[in-house]
Amino acid sequence: SDSGSGDSGEVYTVATEPTFPPFDTTDEDGNIVGFDMDLMNAIAEDQGFSVEFVSYNFDGLIPALQSGNADIVAAGMWASDERKAEVDFSETYFDSGVVLAVADDNNTINSVDDLTSDMKVAYQVGTSSMDVAQQLEEEGKIAEAVGFDKVNDAVQAVNTGAVDALLNDKPVTLEYMNQQPDIIKIVGENVTTESYGIAVQKGNTELLDKINAGLKNVQEDGTFDELLEKWGLA
Ligand code: ARG
Repeated sequence: SDSGSGDSGEVYTVATEPTFPPFDTTDEDGNIVGFDMDLMNAIAEDQGFSVEFVSYNFDGLIPALQSGNADIVAAGMWASDERKAEVDFSETYFDSGVVLAVADDNNTINSVDDLTSDMKVAYQVGTSSMDVAQQLEEEGKIAEAVGFDKVNDAVQAVNTGAVDALLNDKPVTLEYMNQQPDIIKIVGENVTTESYGIAVQKGNTELLDKINAGLKNVQEDGTFDELLEKWGLA
């Protein structure tokens, strides 16, 4: 055998977008790593299957499931009602929400209410932050919602002053603040709340049942909490 693990289960392709630390990121060698990857590996081990990770732009993840190019999406993805029309989700595993961030030296924007009609706000394309940003633009509260495929590019746009602010999930913005001190800071309260789920193709109950069973087991045996600790999410 060339598998090395001695395990003869199915191999499922897990798609993610890896500029979303600590959930989905890459290591120095370019491997896709993160809380979501460790969680999927733990679920796979519990349920006797294997996983391999592939990377897409965030707005390509649901299409990848629908076309059959991926079996699973683990991407800090909000299990929203809108997405439930397109894919099926596991039980949710993490509560999160969108926050506003500005340049570390910005002293004028202290919350979403301080945004003005001449300002630009960055978001990652296809995300819940896109909905918030585009609504602010539609309501005339900002000049322009500016989409980026990679969250690190959106953070950089705040840093250079190309945009005035960034909308993004709170734990991820906190991790960027951790990794790159004095670049951006969170201002104000959560703008929205959401919960993350693992997605499969609509109707793939066989795989979804395994994911839910494995998720429950790793939550009950303490593995899940260890992974939260490991990735600074506890
Ligand atoms: N939680 C947000 C959403 O579901 C953003 C997720 C972005 N995830 C990523 N891997 N880039 O829309």
